[in-house]
Amino acid sequence: MDFCRHFILLGLTFSVLYGCAGVGQKDASFKPMLRQSGKDVMWLPTSQHMVNKMLTAAQVTAKDIVYDLGSGDGVIPITAAQQFKARAVGVEYDAKLAEFAQKNAQQAGVADKVKIIRGDIFVEDFSEATVVTMYLLPELNLQLRPTLLKMKPGTRIVANAFDMQEWTPDQIVSAGSEQGFLWIIPAQVEGEWDFLPYEGFVPARLSLRQSFQQVGGTLTMAGVSQPLLGAQLRGDQLSFHFLGSDNIAQSVLATVTTDALLGDHTYYGRAHSFQAKRR
Ligand SMILES: C[S@@+](CC[C@H](N)C(=O)[O-])C[C@H]1O[C@@H](n2cnc3c(N)ncnc32)[C@H](O)[C@@H]1O
Repeated sequence: MDFCRHFILLGLTFSVLYGCAGVGQKDASFKPMLRQSGKDVMWLPTSQHMVNKMLTAAQVTAKDIVYDLGSGDGVIPITAAQQFKARAVGVEYDAKLAEFAQKNAQQAGVADKVKIIRGDIFVEDFSEATVVTMYLLPELNLQLRPTLLKMKPGTRIVANAFDMQEWTPDQIVSAGSEQGFLWIIPAQVEGEWDFLPYEGFVPARLSLRQSFQQVGGTLTMAGVSQPLLGAQLRGDQLSFHFLGSDNIAQSVLATVTTDALLGDHTYYGRAHSFQAKRR
């Protein structure tokens, strides 16, 4: 099975994995078995070290709601609550594992912050999450991708081990030989935007192309088009530079809403507030 092969390739031994089970060793009545089968993927816990790295990379705080899709023994939700003070929800298909994880949360003293739902990650609504964590399989990541991309811009997704193909990560997360990936859900900016005229700035049209968080395009002023320089999109924050008619670089930093860009246009060291509307 791909999942097993992945671990063999990573050189992780049974004993290392068992040692990492951490929160999964406290319940006397039921003990999950490493690699026990699950609905779409077996159970293997993310190591505690990697969990910490993943939640740190996602910059989890007390303001976040963390959802772990396929939450196993609850190590990710419990750590999110204990160490990062977040509210956390685990979605786990296996009823015994879900119950085990909820007990673990109780024993860890974070039952008020951690809820384990016995359910299917392809059925449960996790749209309230500000951070989503996953340790699944490549094909499951890809099945979830369209749903993830509809989440609020700025939502952080962290996956242990497997990527999302052409959706390149914003950051790679490493813990020893383990590797994970962080993505930040990008706002939808593709299309044409009209800058409303303001002091000293002629009307301009911004034309944006987008592939996931990668953006580029042109700015057209007084009939002259020029490429955007260094365009970046991180969540709902869009920034780029362009050259003015005097060949001096000007910069734009904007918050993206559904039909408007609101931000600052900086030239000659002065920032001017601007608005652009979707055409
Ligand atoms: C590799 S384990 C990861 C556990 C945990 N997220 C972690 O990182 O330690 C994957 C988990 O997903 C669960 N699972 C598999 N298919 C599922 C589905 N469709 N819905 C919910 N849970 C599922 C399995 O039972 C297993 O506990």
